[in-house]
Amino acid sequence: MAKQKTVFYCQNCGAESAKWVGKCPSCNEWNTYVEEVVKKEGSGAMVGNFRPAPSEPRLIQDVSPEVVNRIESGSVELDRVLGGGIVPGSLILLGGEPGIGKSTLLLQVAIKLDKKILYVSGEESAEQIKLRAERIGIKSESCYLLAETGLNEVFSNAEKIRPEILVIDSIQTLHSDRLEATPGSVSQVKECTSQLLKYAKQTHIPVFLVGHINKDGAIAGPKVLEHMVDTVLQFEGDRNMVYRILRTIKNRFGSTAELGIYEMQGTGLREVTNPSEILILPREENMSGVAIGATMEGNRPLLIEVQALVSPATYGTPQRSTTGYDPKRLNMLLAVLEKRIGLRLSSQDVFLNIAGGLKIQDPSLDMAICAAIYSSYEERPISEKICFAGEIGLGGEVRSVTQIDSRIMEAEKLGFEKIVISRHQSKSAVVTNANIKVIPSGKLSSVYSDLFGS
Ligand code: TYD
Ligand code: MG
Repeated sequence: MAKQKTVFYCQNCGAESAKWVGKCPSCNEWNTYVEEVVKKEGSGAMVGNFRPAPSEPRLIQDVSPEVVNRIESGSVELDRVLGGGIVPGSLILLGGEPGIGKSTLLLQVAIKLDKKILYVSGEESAEQIKLRAERIGIKSESCYLLAETGLNEVFSNAEKIRPEILVIDSIQTLHSDRLEATPGSVSQVKECTSQLLKYAKQTHIPVFLVGHINKDGAIAGPKVLEHMVDTVLQFEGDRNMVYRILRTIKNRFGSTAELGIYEMQGTGLREVTNPSEILILPREENMSGVAIGATMEGNRPLLIEVQALVSPATYGTPQRSTTGYDPKRLNMLLAVLEKRIGLRLSSQDVFLNIAGGLKIQDPSLDMAICAAIYSSYEERPISEKICFAGEIGLGGEVRSVTQIDSRIMEAEKLGFEKIVISRHQSKSAVVTNANIKVIPSGKLSSVYSDLFGS
């Protein structure tokens, strides 16, 4: 019997080594090497079944740009993050935590589209998928289900059915006979992805891959996986909250600044086309500690409610706790409020919550956060008709933010009467309509005269 060949792979970056090493020389992680059995077949092991036609170099001026006829996925939000639809022959990786709704999203697209689709699942039986489809409640006559984990079987079925879109749920459950390593191991994930890539390029069939996420939030398996595919989408959100965000991390055929928002319902995922409306709830009268920030998520303006609670610390060190926001940034803003405005926050507990379970990194939310904290500290509510878009510097100055016009327009659309922005931007901001009053502000301390009252 032929001797088994084994190779050690770094589970973090996919680097390969003939013997075990404690520290990966490529990514410097410790203790990430795992031995995997690799069976080499013939001469060209690790080479897929699909060989592209031989190619020749051509001058760039002789190459005519390809007219891409994108396939509409039937979901406006998915089309948006893909850059305007599914590109034929593209390999799309959809990552996300378990239970976030990856399978639901792709199944929903599969049964909604009036195209021949092969949905391969290595995680659920066809009956289970059918149950899920019934929950979503759309009847499809062109979606084939296949519960399979062998790559060759997937290819032979694809040959038979000739689908227009192939969905693989998930890449970590697939295995190729060429290797003996277990499914989900670095070598298997790499090998299966490279074969699927060749399949997609040769047949012009778009392939969706579902990818698991490891505990650090990266897509499980080697980083090379992300390099190989054309598009990486990430489905994120709090599993206990209803909103889900679909984000582009990499896209060879479009912008990575795009974002789609979904709501998980009992009957599948619903697209949220106007997110600001649901993120701002009608407020209890006279509630202090609430402010609205005009943020951007990608190219999309999003008005978000920020809630702060400031209360005297009764037990020793005051607590600072945030949901959906960077705690370090909160500490910085608290220090600015203390030093520049004179709020005595060092003896207060501060809790901060971004509504809707969203995670926001846009610094333009700073001013809204400071306003919410100030409002809670003073126990005075802020008018519902005012919103904020400004970054706060260490000197307490209000700084400019990007795409101010989109923010102002979105605020106006939602019926806000005033928006506070940096004074450096108030001249350049082109306000299309006079329905919203733009309040320029230079220092945080001067914002407060505009805050309270009607
Ligand atoms: P799933 O799509 O299987 O997540 P993933 O493939 O990312 O692991 O399931 C998502 C969760 O959503 C699951 O806990 C059940 C729930 N769900 C609904 O709330 N409504 C629905 O219509 C469906 C199909 C699932
Ligand atoms: Mg799943």
